[in-house]
Amino acid sequence: MKGLPSIAPLASVLARQDGTASGIIDRNAAPPNLSTLANNTLFETWRPRAHVLPPINHVGDPCMHYTDPETGLFHVGYLYSNDDISGAAGAITDDFVHYRDVKPDVHVFIEPGGKNDPVAVFDGSVIPRGINGTPTLFYTSVSFLPIHWTIPYTKGAETASLAVTYGNGSNFTKVNHGPSIPGPPYGSNALNVTGFRDPYVFQSPRLDALLDSDDGVWYNVISGGVHNVSATQFLYRQVDPEFRDWEYLGQWWSEEPNSTWGDGTWAGRWGFNMEVANIFTVDETGYDDDGDLFITLGTEWGYAPVEPQTSPQRNMLWASGTLSKNETQRGWGHDSWGAWGHGKDDDSEVKFQPNMAGFLDWGTSSYAAAGKYLPASSQASQQSGAEDRFISYVWITSNHFGDLDFPDDQQGWDGSLATPRELTRGTISNVVDNALVHETASWRVDSKSSMGDTVELVTLHQKIVREAWDAYTQNATNTITQAGRTIEQSSQSNTVAFDKSPSSKFFVMTASINFTEQARGNNSDVKAGFKILSSEHEETVIYYQFSNETLIIDRSNSSAAALTTNGIATTNEVGKLRLFDIQCEGEPEAHVETLDLTILVDNGIVEVYANDRFVISTWVWSWYAASNNIAFFHEGSQAVKLGDVQIYEGLADAWPERSR
Ligand SMILES: *[C@@H]1O[C@H](CO)[C@@H](O)[C@H](O)[C@H]1NC(C)=O
Ligand SMILES: *[C@@H]1O[C@H](CO)[C@@H](O)[C@H](O)[C@H]1NC(C)=O
Ligand SMILES: *[C@@H]1O[C@H](CO)[C@@H](O)[C@H](O)[C@H]1NC(C)=O
Ligand SMILES: *[C@@H]1O[C@H](CO)[C@@H](O)[C@H](O)[C@H]1NC(C)=O
Ligand SMILES: *[C@@H]1O[C@H](CO)[C@@H](O)[C@H](O)[C@H]1NC(C)=O
Ligand SMILES: *[C@@H]1O[C@H](CO)[C@@H](O)[C@H](O)[C@H]1NC(C)=O
Ligand SMILES: *[C@@H]1O[C@H](CO)[C@@H](O)[C@H](O)[C@H]1NC(C)=O
Ligand SMILES: *[C@@H]1O[C@H](CO)[C@@H](O)[C@H](O)[C@H]1NC(C)=O
Ligand SMILES: *[C@@H]1O[C@H](CO)[C@@H](O)[C@H](O)[C@H]1NC(C)=O
Ligand SMILES: *[C@@H]1O[C@H](CO)[C@@H](O)[C@H](O)[C@H]1NC(C)=O
Ligand SMILES: *[C@@H]1O[C@H](CO)[C@@H](O)[C@H](O)[C@H]1NC(C)=O
Ligand SMILES: *[C@@H]1O[C@H](CO)[C@@H](O)[C@H](O)[C@H]1NC(C)=O
Repeated sequence: MKGLPSIAPLASVLARQDGTASGIIDRNAAPPNLSTLANNTLFETWRPRAHVLPPINHVGDPCMHYTDPETGLFHVGYLYSNDDISGAAGAITDDFVHYRDVKPDVHVFIEPGGKNDPVAVFDGSVIPRGINGTPTLFYTSVSFLPIHWTIPYTKGAETASLAVTYGNGSNFTKVNHGPSIPGPPYGSNALNVTGFRDPYVFQSPRLDALLDSDDGVWYNVISGGVHNVSATQFLYRQVDPEFRDWEYLGQWWSEEPNSTWGDGTWAGRWGFNMEVANIFTVDETGYDDDGDLFITLGTEWGYAPVEPQTSPQRNMLWASGTLSKNETQRGWGHDSWGAWGHGKDDDSEVKFQPNMAGFLDWGTSSYAAAGKYLPASSQASQQSGAEDRFISYVWITSNHFGDLDFPDDQQGWDGSLATPRELTRGTISNVVDNALVHETASWRVDSKSSMGDTVELVTLHQKIVREAWDAYTQNATNTITQAGRTIEQSSQSNTVAFDKSPSSKFFVMTASINFTEQARGNNSDVKAGFKILSSEHEETVIYYQFSNETLIIDRSNSSAAALTTNGIATTNEVGKLRLFDIQCEGEPEAHVETLDLTILVDNGIVEVYANDRFVISTWVWSWYAASNNIAFFHEGSQAVKLGDVQIYEGLADAWPERSR
């Protein structure tokens, strides 16, 4: 999210108080109106322990990640602000479990106030061996606000500038010249943009070949839109070794304003303005120049009724597709581009054409994902033995982009990054070739079996980064196995308590649910899943509703605090997931694909992963200390078989060096 960084409370590290520890608040009694409490009283109440977030105050978009080629350490960056400062801050990790702030007390490594960025620093990305062979940041330098797709664009508002780090990433020094990209195409072919930001740098042998570029040249894609014309992405190519100049290669991907992929069921809306585009190629195991091309992107489309700075409707999406060269454009070789100036609206020599698209995260508070190529030579990968990967961090705002009147001052911080994910090309095998398969959707048919009755589908796979997964499961402080069971039809909702539930709100659990073929019937009313974070006063129900193929996090009774305090969202989080019919060789009959769930609870954060291809991340503000119970949940006339559930309690303290 861009625009004015939302300013979170000033909370001095020293002056911090925490109501839980000091007994000011009682988690065994009904909550008061939390907005009436003193600043920082709720500091620990919902604070995650295994996630990336600053020590205090506001976290915005993740961005500016890189692996330092000298140290092999991965740097995770994010926009940061408090009452006094704004900019970007970061941390380093050698295992994606533990992090160290690059600067103690979150002083930023870059802040606005220079000639190119008098007003703000927005998202950027890093060339690990850039100027002088050191990490070089290409970022959005902002000179005018407000910026929003619903209002006319101020010329020169967003440019792209360079900064270099000569040390450990704790300071990026701005390069002493004007912006490397001074704005969108201008002049007689000027584009009336809605936005022009978030330069994402990457290398691409595929583009090199298509565009006849020098091998290893850098490209960057800037996200935006053109008023009344498109939501779009602008492609640029490096011109000089110092990255001072980039040539414009046109809009490589444009969509009609507010249009959708198919009917919008599987991939939301393209919106009026694209943001935070990331470009990467992956195969089944990780990063691969020859792999499938994927783009993750944010889209903005809701009307902003009051404040132009906020617009509640955003989607965090991904798309995959092919690149093709427009052979009809003669004489538009890259040598002539610069000389011709810019313009020619959306005539681009190379075009991205999606062939599938979906949600990277269905959570209404999930946005602004920032990913990065992670080489096998990184420290984390050396230790885990992973090949080249692509890792992505999604942002989860806790006050819905500033729209909710959440007691942020009382908490002393807001928002977090989600658990990092590995993104790969995923397949779904032995899928019966029926009507469920043929849709404009978040998968595509890759091949047919030799018999012709089943197909293999391709989609995007998302998994919790392996190092964190191993740490949370192998080093759990407490492991619980709950035996599965079959639950027969039930006229009303049926819950079966677990024999043993976690004793805290820090755990990850795995579970599987088998539905019968009758669940596909016209009168199907089956729902199945789990109640978590429950007690006699509160519960959060996570369930799959077969009739409309949705996975739902029902938060309507999640928080006793919602009854006393404004800004605590109780709306459902909903995502669409199709379970296919699967028929393996030798099986007499097809069966409904098993629903495999991974639910990660890190205090206020709940992340639900399903079948490696679906994620909802959100906040659940359970109040009572006793709200730790888990139960099976089932409703409807069709039976379900629930597999054994594993619960790994503890997670890990991501910040062993922080004072708290
Ligand atoms: C609480 O935080 C807000 C926001 O930073 C600040 O304006 C206010 O002065 C603080 N209140 C106290 C009592 O420190
Ligand atoms: C990085 O360098 C700065 C300045 O030299 C220093 O203050 C900081 O502690 C270093 N950070 C780490 C994580 O080593
Ligand atoms: C980074 O270093 C430069 C040059 O020493 C200094 O001007 C700038 O203020 C520093 N920036 C930050 C964010 O510390
Ligand atoms: C650009 O679009 C905005 C919004 O539609 C409009 O108000 C403005 O007049 C346009 N500017 C130009 C130069 O066409
Ligand atoms: C863009 O479309 C809106 C609504 O359809 C219209 O009011 C506005 O005049 C158009 N702007 C331009 C620059 O065409
Ligand atoms: C975009 O389309 C959606 C769905 O039709 C609609 O609700 C929304 O109002 C549209 N946005 C604008 C700004 O027209
Ligand atoms: C290809 O280039 C021609 C000539 O500039 C243009 O009319 C056409 O729209 C372009 N096609 C694509 C797919 O960009
Ligand atoms: C588990 O903890 C031990 C001791 O801290 C550590 O050496 C080991 O690497 C951890 N295992 C995983 C999978 O993180
Ligand atoms: C559901 O109803 C439709 C229309 O009546 C019918 O064509 C279809 O076969 C039914 N499907 C099932 C699974 O019973
Ligand atoms: C499916 O139904 C649930 C509740 O019954 C609702 O929250 C959800 O939005 C529905 N999903 C779709 C895609 O219609
Ligand atoms: C809680 O207190 C705040 C601050 O005094 C007030 O604005 C709000 O209306 C109260 N909320 C409820 C639900 O009473
Ligand atoms: C669910 O179905 C899968 C595939 O048929 C099977 O391997 C698994 O054992 C089933 N689980 C339960 C709990 O029935």
